[in-house]
Amino acid sequence: METKLVKVDSENPERELLTEAAEILRKGGLVAFPTETVYGLGANGLDGDACKRIYEAKGRPSDNPLILTIGDISGLYPIVSRVTENAEKIIDAFWPGPITLVLPKADCVPSAVTGGLDTVAVRYPSNKIARELIKLAGIPVAAPSANSSGKPSPTRASHVAFDLDGKIDMIIDGGAADWGLESTILDVSEDKLVLLRPGAVTQEMIEKVVGPIDVDPAVYSKPSKDIVPKAPGMKYKHYSPSAKVILVSGPGDNVIRTINEKVREDEAKGLKVGIMATVQTENSYESGNVLVVGDRDKPETIGANLFKILRKFDFIGADVVYSEVFDEDGEGAAIMNRLNKAAGFNYIRC
Ligand code: TXA
Ligand code: MG
Repeated sequence: METKLVKVDSENPERELLTEAAEILRKGGLVAFPTETVYGLGANGLDGDACKRIYEAKGRPSDNPLILTIGDISGLYPIVSRVTENAEKIIDAFWPGPITLVLPKADCVPSAVTGGLDTVAVRYPSNKIARELIKLAGIPVAAPSANSSGKPSPTRASHVAFDLDGKIDMIIDGGAADWGLESTILDVSEDKLVLLRPGAVTQEMIEKVVGPIDVDPAVYSKPSKDIVPKAPGMKYKHYSPSAKVILVSGPGDNVIRTINEKVREDEAKGLKVGIMATVQTENSYESGNVLVVGDRDKPETIGANLFKILRKFDFIGADVVYSEVFDEDGEGAAIMNRLNKAAGFNYIRC
């Protein structure tokens, strides 16, 4: 299959291009499009066969359910059977935006979307291209991240093309995703709300609106037989480049010294070594391929670049990557959740 790549203006999306994309979606095809978090791979969310194509293109395990995206709030009611009071509060506070809500599903939602669960995850993105496209399609659009399963999520059209060229109908290039990490996922299907995946809308922000919430233990710990994530996708090794990623934590000077030692040892063995550094530390490393992920004083820069930098380590063929770690406060929770998964919770503590 030939994948058509189209550039669309993120401020004033060209209507005729989005109309063409919407038509592909309505006919059962696959279109990748930008959102404010990461790029999504869209299909008609009411068409089980179209959704199955998403699983094939991504190589995604079939028990990992899809998110349904909507283009305006009226799109929510046909696909859920109940909107809880707390869900209303979260919707008022944060939609459209980077938070996905898990709600009891309506009968029209195919099991190819939910992986057989009786809930459905719904997201109303704020990105203009995404909203216009979904509205023009006139259907809920199933949209997981547009990467090959297991690889870091795509934050640019070029990442999507690298993973999925030839496997999908169209890629809409709307520039770099603003936030760069996937949406927060909050289960609002029962009285007690549960954070399933941290993202741009932080636990603190949610608790200001609805009071204390639970956090799925799998958010901060390695999944095991006792810790089974409620978001099925969180159990897979995820977000990972081909290189082995090792996180190094401890006082700043120790981290730099330890990484320098490890890089020397690994290079002596003939390994290609990457170092994920920050603007604060980039000049402290003596060898290895140093890539700067962002500025510790501006955590949003780290979120925006994390997946791009993990992909770059693949591109340069790194065997091992040593990474610094970050504060888990606020948006840092999302950064460390993804980094822990990329590393399979592999730490050197120094
Ligand atoms: O920011 C995002 O959410 C991006 C953009 C493209 O919208 N999408 C995204 O989708 O990250 P995906 O498929 O990569 O991640 C969706 C996660 C998976 O871990 C999946 O298991 C979980 O949501 N999920 C989907 N439906 C669920 C449900 N009914 N209950 C619990 N978790 C669910
Ligand atoms: Mg994903």
